[in-house]
Amino acid sequence: TPIDDNASFDMTQHFIVIGNPIAHSKSPSIHHAFAQQAGLAIRYARQYCPDDAESFRAVVDAFFNGGGIGANVTVPFKQIAYEYCLEDGALSDHARVAGAVNTLAQRDGKLYGDNTDGQGLVNDMQHQGWILKDKTVAIIGAGGAARGTILPLIQAGIKSLTLANRTVSKAETLVKALGEQSATVAHCPIDTCATDALTGHFDIIINATSIGLSGERLPLSEHLTCAHAYDMMYGRELPFLTHFADSGAKTSDGYGMLIGQAALSFALWTGADIDVTAARAQLT
Ligand code: ATR
Repeated sequence: TPIDDNASFDMTQHFIVIGNPIAHSKSPSIHHAFAQQAGLAIRYARQYCPDDAESFRAVVDAFFNGGGIGANVTVPFKQIAYEYCLEDGALSDHARVAGAVNTLAQRDGKLYGDNTDGQGLVNDMQHQGWILKDKTVAIIGAGGAARGTILPLIQAGIKSLTLANRTVSKAETLVKALGEQSATVAHCPIDTCATDALTGHFDIIINATSIGLSGERLPLSEHLTCAHAYDMMYGRELPFLTHFADSGAKTSDGYGMLIGQAALSFALWTGADIDVTAARAQLT
């Protein structure tokens, strides 16, 4: 049989981010910047999905059956994606302990769910020179965002964790559940308290609530101080960061976490090791 020397193959790899709403997602521009850096041809699109588990599963199946390489999952589907992988696929430790999936891939013909949010946060802190080993850390919040950071922080070697939440019982339930699920979590001392009862000095305090984007303030004690404050939200003039910056703490918003979690997803899909500083410079 003659060989067609002119046959051209489209090597473009396809990716999506699934969410609702999705129009404002920055993921396509972040991943296109990564692809440019890695010299890969990709197409990364925003994928709207109706807010129910059945529609989500249909979107995921259609995407991977059509040859898609990887998908990111955002609000409100991270838990639905976790349940899908639990039933019909496989999960990384980080996704299992987070109870949420932000990254989907296919492994051995099966759906595989990972969660890179917490490790993205840890990498961003370390990238900025913040030391986590043997440090005291407080997290404010006990929702999905807080839950996803707990295992990666403990794996980074922190000395102790305090989980402060408006509803203390929610923090207590979370700590108990994670301790039963993971030996690593069980080995770290974890205290719980109400957000306004969080006092003393911590090496690092993290805001893992969504409070602050529109100027609302968390009820923080005057007797609470820290060396480093990290807000998982990003943008200017976050009240949580201003509060601690006024007393001399180093502060960071969550933009580096956004890039960091994306870089870990990209590495899982393509094997490419991304220079996040260069990508960030290209994006801003
Ligand atoms: P996510 O998945 O983004 O973490 P979530 O599960 O709704 O979202 O959790 C939101 C977190 O912000 C919770 O810890 C919540 O406290 P409660 O558990 O008491 O609800 C916290 N939060 C929301 N509004 C708050 C407020 N006005 N003051 C203090 N904490 C608040």
